[in-house]
Amino acid sequence: HAPDGKKNGDLHRDYNDDRNAQSQDALYTTSNGVPMPHPYETQRVGENGPLLLQDFHLIDLLSHFDRERIPERVVHAKGSGAHGYYVTTDPLDDICAADIFQKGKKCPVTVRFSTVGGESGSHDCARDPRGFSVKFRTDEGNWDMVANNTPVFFLRDPAKFPHFIHTQKRDPATHLTGADDSTMFWDYLSQNPESIHQVMVLMGDRGIPDGWRFMHGYSGHTMKLVNKNGDWVYTQFHMKSKQGTKFITQADSATKSPDYAQKDLYNAIEKGDYPSWDLAVQTMTPKEAEELWEKQKINVFDLTHVWPQKQFPLRKIGEFTLNENVQNYFAEVEQVTFNPSHMIPGIEPSADPVLQSRLFSYPDTHRHRVGVNYQQLPVNAPRVPYRMANFQRDGNMAFYNQGSRPNYLSSIEPIQFRQRSVDLNKTHGHFSGEAIAFLSEIRPEDFNAPRTLWEKVFDDGARERFINNVSGHMSTCREKEIIKRQIGIFREVSEDLASRLEKATGVKGYPGIADLRFNGTHNGMAKEKSNR
Ligand code: HEM
Repeated sequence: HAPDGKKNGDLHRDYNDDRNAQSQDALYTTSNGVPMPHPYETQRVGENGPLLLQDFHLIDLLSHFDRERIPERVVHAKGSGAHGYYVTTDPLDDICAADIFQKGKKCPVTVRFSTVGGESGSHDCARDPRGFSVKFRTDEGNWDMVANNTPVFFLRDPAKFPHFIHTQKRDPATHLTGADDSTMFWDYLSQNPESIHQVMVLMGDRGIPDGWRFMHGYSGHTMKLVNKNGDWVYTQFHMKSKQGTKFITQADSATKSPDYAQKDLYNAIEKGDYPSWDLAVQTMTPKEAEELWEKQKINVFDLTHVWPQKQFPLRKIGEFTLNENVQNYFAEVEQVTFNPSHMIPGIEPSADPVLQSRLFSYPDTHRHRVGVNYQQLPVNAPRVPYRMANFQRDGNMAFYNQGSRPNYLSSIEPIQFRQRSVDLNKTHGHFSGEAIAFLSEIRPEDFNAPRTLWEKVFDDGARERFINNVSGHMSTCREKEIIKRQIGIFREVSEDLASRLEKATGVKGYPGIADLRFNGTHNGMAKEKSNR
């Protein structure tokens, strides 16, 4: 045994020890633990001579510095995070088997808020949807809610996502962003009119939230809740800010610091003004989902539409509160990995194709962005009341490689197994059909919710600001044809909206979309059905 009584092979690092590191008891060393007298010293030949390759201290310093950056998130790169706890106040155990939804159950959470399109140094007050991710560290493993602050999204055909996102990234040739040139952005939107609902939200008064604390979160996707008997319902999750919602105008956003939201959240938590949210669900039986499609043409697998709250009211489950700032941004926010496929027994995905694609995309990017053993990093590691075991071994940075336990399903030293708490045979539903290549179709119903926003939800001031926001944004669009098409799409929402936009932009738009072909979607409203 080593002199301190540990086994020679025992590891000596503890993550919490590292996280709570203080300067006064810390000794300056190289990365292999050798004490050094001063960080600025270098070994050289005389005062003016060249450096020595043997100076590990300097090489250690420079080579680590050279590797400090990991790839930023390809979307949602700018964000803020904090820790807190969740508690179930209103049990959901009649419809969901998840252990965390029993009355009084608590668990630690880590939350990350983000803008979507910008780079990691971009402005917190961009007109952009906001990401709202929560990692619930439950007793049955981690459940990640990877949500947005708007209940709808720009698309329902998953293969469009990289195209749409690219239109908000830097132009390959000019290297300019949409701040200087909005042509790509409107080109995409005017070819993919199912985006209109989200465009109405984005360009309206809800387009720039006032920091992170004053916004709601929505799963957007339909998921499934399954109870102990294997009965299931569809669900949408909502996170309701107990602070209420607040937004800022385009003009105000220009007066804010780039890290406005980061500062606001950090300072609120530091002074004990802890933000909190209610967690709630809407639920729907499979039969109701069929009726919703037959009667109202709302498909629950299409996240450009919402479930009407009058028909499907919110049911509160619990609350979460953020009461702890991170100690180390990189370790606890940059390296945290939220993944919609992190679900726990009782919560399942629906067949929504965008959700299904996300189930693949997030862990895939995590293996690339953080590394194959990203789940072992302290901020991502589950905090479960049992010792985790599986047969994943090795790979880069395998800190927790499961000791000497067999790396295959051994009959000599078997590990333990727990039976499923829900019957998957009942919950998955039945799917059958021909394999087809599918692209969604624009239908008149796609314009119903946008029209309600314009006619009923917006007041006069909101309508005026909307026109200013859109025309201001379009002022850097280089192609008149794109503006004409987008006005044609707005005309399907409202003649009033379209004609006001024509005045503001000075461009006469198309009379509607009946004569338009789209490169991104079938036009179910075309005059000629062959005109798709
Ligand atoms: C982040 C892909 C749609 C919410 C990300 C990331 C990827 C991605 C690759 C970066 C993750 C990371 O590096 O950690 C996709 C794809 C989508 C899609 C392929 C559609 C096909 C959506 C939708 C929502 C959403 C519909 C919300 C309802 C988020 C959030 C983050 C994120 C909140 C940030 C997570 C964090 O804070 O770390 N997405 N996304 N995404 N996405 Fe999506």
